[in-house]
Amino acid sequence: MPASILHRRYRFGDVTTDYLGDDGALDRLAGRLGRRPAVAVVDRAVARLHAARLEAALRGADGAPLPRLVVAGGEAAKSVANLERVWVWLAARRLPRDGVVVGVGGGAVLDLAGFAAATWRRGVEFAAAPTTLLAAVDAGLGGKTAVDLGALKNPVGAFHAAANVLVEPSLLGTLSRRDWRCGLAETIKAAVIGSVPLFRDLEARAPDLAGLLARGRADRPVPDVLDLPWAAWIDGAVGVKGRLVARDYREAGPRRALNLGHTLGHALEIQLGLAHGEAVALGLAAAARLAAARGTCPRRDAERIVALLAACGLAVTAAAPPRRATAALVAGDKKVRGGEPRWVLPRRIGAVDVDARVDLDDMLASLAG
Ligand SMILES: NC(=O)c1ccc[n+]([C@@H]2O[C@H](COP(=O)([O-])OP(=O)(O)OC[C@H]3O[C@@H](n4cnc5c(N)ncnc54)[C@H](O)[C@@H]3O)[C@@H](O)[C@H]2O)c1
Ligand SMILES: [Zn+2]
Repeated sequence: MPASILHRRYRFGDVTTDYLGDDGALDRLAGRLGRRPAVAVVDRAVARLHAARLEAALRGADGAPLPRLVVAGGEAAKSVANLERVWVWLAARRLPRDGVVVGVGGGAVLDLAGFAAATWRRGVEFAAAPTTLLAAVDAGLGGKTAVDLGALKNPVGAFHAAANVLVEPSLLGTLSRRDWRCGLAETIKAAVIGSVPLFRDLEARAPDLAGLLARGRADRPVPDVLDLPWAAWIDGAVGVKGRLVARDYREAGPRRALNLGHTLGHALEIQLGLAHGEAVALGLAAAARLAAARGTCPRRDAERIVALLAACGLAVTAAAPPRRATAALVAGDKKVRGGEPRWVLPRRIGAVDVDARVDLDDMLASLAG
């Protein structure tokens, strides 16, 4: 892993986001906090697996350790009850208006900590330290923060971009095979939306990815996985997302491209009880096959998308869930305009259509393969 490959700066709404992605990234935290009071909301798995690294890095400019609230990771982290827990804790710490909330963890803990930062004293600065591939390429960047409400995903949230995103690739070494697969689903999604070179790089390493990720227990770490060029791939995917969000922070147009695979994916995530990335992979594969069948995406490109997802050990077909329930979930999705859901479909590798009208029956037929 190169020592320092990535320092990007984006303007998202009224926030400037510095994205640092190298193995010393977390050590820059103290300098970026300066003398402001700061607290950290930390994913329990990371607190346990990387205790020494966090102990060294989660400090203020005066060298004092940051107060820490440890929360269990996973989707359950994004509950209103947990949010209240964070607020109560912030109140006990008396975090002032010029304070900073630092989130350390996967996308779930970052969404929770980011929303707490967005709402605490009407908004304090947020810093994100993503520790999953999915959070490094997607959830940690772009300002969307949210919690779930019962079965509804992300209905309560705010745009509140982190001023600093600090990614330490070596922390990813403890991720399970399932988490790598999920992160790759979003990485491949980013490549399909806007980076032919990233797609080609991933494709060139597909045999290695297949060797490392397609087999073996889903809940286990993956030996030798850090030998792959993750830092470069993260850079490629972040470049796609960062460009889109900088153009369209509040998702009036181009940012909708990032929803590729998500309209069906969110419905599948709920109905089939899948992890977010697993559902996105199915949604992306179905969208690619549908676009090829309509003649709006070259068949060869659709096949390459599906093959790359499959090489990463991601499922690319599923039996269609009940139509009525799926239709209700799709209709309740945020991407509905004028009463009609709009879908994102690939036009080719590297470009998408963000405003497609799709018959749900056709999409469900494509899901089955
Ligand atoms: N805000 C956004 O723009 C955005 C974008 C994409 C996804 N998301 C959200 O992100 C969430 C999914 O994020 P995720 O895939 O990171 O899952 P996650 O946050 O649920 O983390 C997955 C698991 O990995 C553990 N973990 C985290 N870092 C680890 C490490 N370094 N080593 C070992 N285990 C570790 C966590 O404790 C958890 O059990 C969803 O809630 C989704 O809605 C948000
Ligand atoms: Zn996603």
